[in-house]
Amino acid sequence: MLISDGLIAGVGPASKVEKLAAARKAERVDVAGRVVLPGFVDSHTHLVHAASRAEEYELKIQGASYEEIAKKGGGILNSVQKLRAATSQQLKRRAQAALEVFAALGTTTIEAKSGYGLDVASELKILSLHKELGAEQPIEIASTFLGAHIVPPEFRGKANGAEEYVKLLAEWLIPEVVSNGLAEFCDVFCDRGAFTRAQSKQVLSAGLKHKLIPRLHAEQLARTGATQLAVELDAASCDHLEQINENDILALAKSGTVATLLPGCDFHLGLKQYAPARKLIDAGAIVALATDYNPGTSPTVSMPMILSLACSQLRMTPAEAISAVTSNAAYSLGRQNRIGSLEVGKQADLAVFEVEDYREIPYYFGVNTCWLTVKSGRVIYAAA
Ligand code: NIG
Ligand code: FE
Repeated sequence: MLISDGLIAGVGPASKVEKLAAARKAERVDVAGRVVLPGFVDSHTHLVHAASRAEEYELKIQGASYEEIAKKGGGILNSVQKLRAATSQQLKRRAQAALEVFAALGTTTIEAKSGYGLDVASELKILSLHKELGAEQPIEIASTFLGAHIVPPEFRGKANGAEEYVKLLAEWLIPEVVSNGLAEFCDVFCDRGAFTRAQSKQVLSAGLKHKLIPRLHAEQLARTGATQLAVELDAASCDHLEQINENDILALAKSGTVATLLPGCDFHLGLKQYAPARKLIDAGAIVALATDYNPGTSPTVSMPMILSLACSQLRMTPAEAISAVTSNAAYSLGRQNRIGSLEVGKQADLAVFEVEDYREIPYYFGVNTCWLTVKSGRVIYAAA
């Protein structure tokens, strides 16, 4: 591969690439038979949050369900309380540390969602951090507004609390976010205990009016029809999908909406029902995989771990899983012309692995075989 000005200028057998004129003056990096992949594109993360929820992890192990913990004021509300109490500096330091680990595991682009602020000031604080971090460190951050993560405490227990909050999002917060250039996508947690399909449609439609592209958290806890809404709105992505039915699979297969699967959640929560990846792929849906890095359901930044889960639990082949974390994920972020594959003209975003065969990346689970990570032609991580 020949890299010039951060882009891929040539790719193929050494004998061919070395003959290119620009290759003569190029600095040479020999990866000595290791496996080179496009840098991973993690298309679903909740990057900015204040702290772990390890205290809830123990409750879960003892048998409490995710929804039971949420009903008692834990869950997302717990993280909202912690985020509101944290300073921007504290949030930034935690996110920076995570970004360094993302890079060390081969990830070169992430999507990041707000959603642990849930008031005007805190949501803007998170989205501003996406922008700052995107400018100050090498991993590209695609920013998503997830104001509709859950009904915030101030609106709970009120007669029309959820409706009032949806109105605040649609009429106030979305225009504010867009006029400050703070997001590209709008997401909604459309599920049992969060937002209904009708409320989700209101929020996403308001986003669309302001040119925010829709994405959805869909059918994780219960089947609510969120997938059908995603297809109806031509959403970029529809994520989770543990509870989808045959009709949802067909609808996704016929659409351009990416089915983004997040097996880290089921693994961490100890759930047995993973999303029907095989059925989705066999029906012709576009399947991506992401970490869903967040403190409640998937506290991991490791794409290699997600590849292992995809192969062992979702029965995806290593090749399907690698496509899902590179080109398909790039497509779900609207960046398919720039990243996600190793082709001439694309950004030189690469991850090199200390293995002899690409299948060994998911095969060796729980360890990091990433040896070198390159973003736009610059080394951003090198193993010792
Ligand atoms: O993607 N399901 C909603 N949102 C997150 C979990 C958020 C949390 O529990 O903090 C998810 O799983
Ligand atoms: Fe999520």
